[in-house]
Amino acid sequence: MLPENFDKYSYYINSVQSPETDVRFFKKVYRELRHKEALMLREDFCGTYIVCQEWVKLGNLYKAIGVDLDEEPIEYGRRLAEKNLKPSQRARLNILKKNVLNPSLPKSDITAALNFSYFLFKERGMLKKYFRNVYKTLKNDGVFILDCFGGSNCYEPNEEETVHKGFSYFWDQDSYDPITNEAQFYIHFKIKGKKKIEKAFSYDWRLWSIPELKEILTEVGFKDIQVYWEGTTKSGEGDGHFKIVDKGEDCESWIAYLAALK
Ligand SMILES: C[S@@+](CC[C@H](N)C(=O)[O-])C[C@H]1O[C@@H](n2cnc3c(N)ncnc32)[C@H](O)[C@@H]1O
Repeated sequence: MLPENFDKYSYYINSVQSPETDVRFFKKVYRELRHKEALMLREDFCGTYIVCQEWVKLGNLYKAIGVDLDEEPIEYGRRLAEKNLKPSQRARLNILKKNVLNPSLPKSDITAALNFSYFLFKERGMLKKYFRNVYKTLKNDGVFILDCFGGSNCYEPNEEETVHKGFSYFWDQDSYDPITNEAQFYIHFKIKGKKKIEKAFSYDWRLWSIPELKEILTEVGFKDIQVYWEGTTKSGEGDGHFKIVDKGEDCESWIAYLAALK
């Protein structure tokens, strides 16, 4: 049980999400691959849909669709939108309490699946069903953007602390099974001077590799799949800039994006 009044979504958003960076990256990818501007974004597994909220801030022509099954984060997002967006911006949001597998989801220029949410599809057939649905519900000149992570660190339990102002965020890989590639993750928080809040979020996932994802995306019809890999600083850390590559690097821990063209 989480402590009463603990605002888990606020801590999650502040630790894990960077909507301004995401939106900037989506615009760059679409421009680079389609040579024009994307206007309609669909954020699958949108949770509190803060990426959608950032997207509609870009201008009057920018519209966003968010899709999530769970009323709780959607309601949290609605309160955030009420506080942070103008009525004209909110009018360009269409938040759907639906399954991402629903075949009648609205079409978009970009469909994005972030923070590895699709790792919850552990069976190849289910992941393929999801990718096929994305393909079918993407405009003809659309781009599907999804993130992925990996590296040798993922093959053993470990817990990583990131210190923020007034609190720490913990990304805890609790287990890994080499037979199934399944892994259990938790997010914990520790507010300064207070007891650690364990398992604020938990994720029972299968770790998918880039070649597996490319194969399944190709099987459902995507024609061209680009991998965006992060550059490195002089000290060898990720620099936050992602560029198209043909060859990756064997890091202990990496995040990459795939951009699949219909
Ligand atoms: C890890 S959170 C992602 C939140 C946010 N998009 C982010 O990038 O951090 C995963 C979200 O996916 C939603 N979800 C899980 N299965 C789903 C499904 N089949 N269809 C739609 N949403 C789903 C959950 O309700 C949850 O809000």
